[in-house]
Amino acid sequence: MAEEEKKECEYSSTTKKKFEFLEDLPGIGPATAQKLKELGYHTVESLAMATARELEPVGISEKKAFAIIEAARSSIGISFIRADELLKMRQNVLRLTSGSKALDRILDGGLETQTITEFYGEYGSGKSQICHQLCVNVQLPPERGGLNGAALYVDTENTFRTERIVQMSRHLGLDPTEVVKNIIYAEAYTSDHQIFLLENADQVIKENNVKLIIVDSLTAHFRSEYIGREMLASRQQRLNKHMHKLIGLARAFNAVAVVTNQVMAKPDVFFGDAVHPIGGHIVGHTSHTRLYLRRAAHGPVRIARLVSSPYLPEGEEIFKITENGIEDVSEEEKTKSRGR
Ligand SMILES: Nc1ncnc2c1ncn2[C@@H]1O[C@H](COP(=O)(O)OP(=O)(O)O)[C@@H](O)[C@H]1O
Ligand SMILES: [Mg+2]
Repeated sequence: MAEEEKKECEYSSTTKKKFEFLEDLPGIGPATAQKLKELGYHTVESLAMATARELEPVGISEKKAFAIIEAARSSIGISFIRADELLKMRQNVLRLTSGSKALDRILDGGLETQTITEFYGEYGSGKSQICHQLCVNVQLPPERGGLNGAALYVDTENTFRTERIVQMSRHLGLDPTEVVKNIIYAEAYTSDHQIFLLENADQVIKENNVKLIIVDSLTAHFRSEYIGREMLASRQQRLNKHMHKLIGLARAFNAVAVVTNQVMAKPDVFFGDAVHPIGGHIVGHTSHTRLYLRRAAHGPVRIARLVSSPYLPEGEEIFKITENGIEDVSEEEKTKSRGR
């Protein structure tokens, strides 16, 4: 290594300080730390994902805000990086199994960390069932497709059922009493409450080693509260901010983020899909991976289609929902249903 290069390495390793708590960051006294916490920034990780404008209410100068964010970023190892380093960061992406090999296949091995995966579909298509299954699977060791982590479940429709978690855990040979302890649950009563919960989730995520963050459903409250054209712009703005918060958490903690979404009928479509997900372009552009779920003609079988992904081709697979949870459809069952 050239002398100059060596020096540079030494320099960057000594300047790249690791800060454990907000109070350790240069320029943050107790009063500023307190204000940051009130704004929802409890950890260095979440501060690293903030923008200077978001820190305006703290009452510090823009310059100072930049400096604080920069220190938080360098502490957790993000700054401008070369494309080869970006590739390395992508290599830190972990995958979580859905429980169905077929579904994992269209996702190139499972749901990935650091990005948002959206499941959309009609009522009863299996969105919440998948969320339940993921809460169990995330607790599995990596060799079984898990992330050895906990789950955070933001429930807006009051459809989370511990009984289902117990059934799914037993099927995987896990102790249900332990599994339920590793699911942190919060019911969101309004869209404001939903936003508040995520904005204050960083500490809980860090302390509990949360590797899966679920918002089920992302859009239900927004849809019922913001009615009419004149409210559309503010709804989209709030949704956008909410989604960005979620991406920030997924990146900062290398966690899987999952949102569910309902569908609306398209009145003007005669061919192809007559439904589309709620949330318009905002949700579409911020969800990295979108899957459309629908029921097969009858029974437990569901069809999942990968509608968009930054790098995977469109694909369609089937799975089923049973007492045990999300499972593959056996070859035998496939042949049988073809014969019908
Ligand atoms: N214990 C169970 N055994 C078998 N199937 C179940 C069980 N619980 C739920 N399901 C199936 O899951 C469906 C509900 O799916 P859900 O994920 O709640 O839909 P949504 O897309 O509206 O969130 C039910 O209609 C049923 O088909
Ligand atoms: Mg549901």
